[in-house]
Amino acid sequence: MGSQLKIGGFALSIPAIEAGLAGYSDMAMRVTARRRGCPYAVTEALLDRVVITGGRGREKGLILSDDDHPVAGQLLGSEAHEMATAAKILKDYDFDVVDLNFACPVKKVMGRCRGGYLLSDPHQAIAIMQAVRDEVEGPLTLKLRRGVDDSAHAAEQFEQIFDEAQRLEFSAIAVHGRTVEQKYTGKADWDFLRRLKTRKPNMTILGSGDVFCAADALRMYESTGVDGVWIARGAIGNPWIFSEFQALLDGQSLPAPPSIAAQRAALLEHFQMAVIIYGEELASRQMRKMGIKYSRLHPDGAAVWRDFIAVKSQVEWDRVLATYYASDGPGRAQTSIADAADMYNSCTSSGVAA
Ligand SMILES: Cc1cc2nc3c(=O)[nH]c(=O)nc-3n(C[C@H](O)[C@H](O)[C@H](O)COP(=O)(O)O)c2cc1C
Repeated sequence: MGSQLKIGGFALSIPAIEAGLAGYSDMAMRVTARRRGCPYAVTEALLDRVVITGGRGREKGLILSDDDHPVAGQLLGSEAHEMATAAKILKDYDFDVVDLNFACPVKKVMGRCRGGYLLSDPHQAIAIMQAVRDEVEGPLTLKLRRGVDDSAHAAEQFEQIFDEAQRLEFSAIAVHGRTVEQKYTGKADWDFLRRLKTRKPNMTILGSGDVFCAADALRMYESTGVDGVWIARGAIGNPWIFSEFQALLDGQSLPAPPSIAAQRAALLEHFQMAVIIYGEELASRQMRKMGIKYSRLHPDGAAVWRDFIAVKSQVEWDRVLATYYASDGPGRAQTSIADAADMYNSCTSSGVAA
């Protein structure tokens, strides 16, 4: 089945994109996924002030490579003129699309009137969208949750922001089917996504929430009618989720999980690109948390997980690879793990999105 999904004029080979994920979705993770079928990716949320003035994490967050397109740079902020200035800088840095985050539920972000807070302040959210639209000629997208909470008032606020984005010709809106108040508890409301797409057939909607494996992606795509699936936690440590989704869309059965040799190749590639971003010393720490996620596909996952957790240097990283990934063999399939809240906790450790 061919994909109909287009974002800002970019036709995507499959109706899936790699999510913005604070602390994870850097150039290394994005390119590792692209080489395995991911057609489009979003950066982690970049604080507008950091983009404007420089500061911790700025350059790392802005690093792209030639094969990292189309890519959306995602912004987090509270002031319209700052968001507009930062959006312009992202375009100058060769980002194809600018994405605005009105979804992040992290307390520190909310407390500074950024992210999910803006869902409760349509006036300010709309001022930001308008200012960015005035400043940037290229495609814009938006990341929302389904509301601040479950109240009727929150539903109206969501609607106001959504409709204004449509009026301002935003190219797509990603909607996480949880409320801001829910953070990562409970289940994402896929029926909300289905009803939203039915009510707003002319807007390109990307559905988000509880997509942990390719079968989840297909289920969301088919049962809700969204134009594309926003693959978040399911892509961390599993760049094969995109080609697996492609196979399912084509009516094939799920391919065998990546072999240990295939996992080793991805880990090595991922590591090499992490070194370009962070330098050797920091790369092994960054890759420790990636390795932990990759370990779920290894038949000896618990032991690999334990050894990746202890990694503090490249020598130790190499040792884990030599111990567990030197000889080939079948991998283990990733199935739907609905309770992955532990991964969320690491979100707050990212300096960039804080
Ligand atoms: C560790 C972590 C970091 C996240 N960082 C971002 C972010 O920077 N930008 C964003 O739009 N969403 C972010 N999210 C939300 C995800 O993109 C996604 O919407 C959410 O996890 C629901 O999808 P899932 O249940 O399939 O993971 C983050 C989620 C997690 C778990």
